[in-house]
Amino acid sequence: FRKKQKLPSTHIPLKIGHRGACGHSPENTMASFKKALEYQVDFIEIDIHLSFDGQIVVIHDLTLDRTTNGKGRVQDFTYEELSKLDAGSWYSEVFSGERIPLLSTVLDQTLPFSGVLIEIKHPEHYPEIESILAKELKNRLRASHESPKIMVQSFNIASIKKFHMLLPEVPVGILFKHTPAGISNRSLLKYSQFASFINPKKTMVNERLIRKIHTYGMMAFTWTVNNRKHVHSFEKMKLDGITTDFPDYFSLNEKKS
Ligand code: G3P
Ligand code: CA
Repeated sequence: FRKKQKLPSTHIPLKIGHRGACGHSPENTMASFKKALEYQVDFIEIDIHLSFDGQIVVIHDLTLDRTTNGKGRVQDFTYEELSKLDAGSWYSEVFSGERIPLLSTVLDQTLPFSGVLIEIKHPEHYPEIESILAKELKNRLRASHESPKIMVQSFNIASIKKFHMLLPEVPVGILFKHTPAGISNRSLLKYSQFASFINPKKTMVNERLIRKIHTYGMMAFTWTVNNRKHVHSFEKMKLDGITTDFPDYFSLNEKKS
């Protein structure tokens, strides 16, 4: 693998707003991203899928049923069709009229103010998603004077490796659900060849795991911490990023520059 991106490890955890600030607003909508920016997040975490016509759209589930007034799989509808759905009313009538945004719109409207952490969701359903994403981000990197704060993550390691090969300038990371056996040194060594961060579920995190991840030259993030007291205890650990539905729970409320 080509050399991975190194980011400075500050141990002041990045404040990462999960699906925006989805404890306060409908996830993965512009309203949620606006709320996250009000809470001065360092990064907004978003989930991406492909529409039938190959556009990158921001939504969490494979299907529309839970978070919109549509039904069926995201990938069976064109963006024009998806853009007419209501993605806010399920959460509260106050948010009716919120739409499923395009990745490009989210990046245009949030990057001037925060970083964006893009999760490639279920890439096994979208064989081209890594190359479509790499192309879109490459154009953006070329067009901007300062390098935009973008990172990409997935639970799917093959997908993350593939994306890294296509666009090594963008830092990538691996998400882990809880595995009682933890993550072995051998695996961490392998991941460290391409990954800039490891993002285990909060129940896996302890000082020892954080130290191990750092030993292999990667940053240690965690997800998704939604209890105020827990946010405060995780802030005291040497984590590099904490993902939360409630970015207002951070005690260190100053944004890092
Ligand atoms: O950032 C980690 C987290 O987003 C992964 O789980 O289901 O919320 O996408 P999920
Ligand atoms: Ca996610």
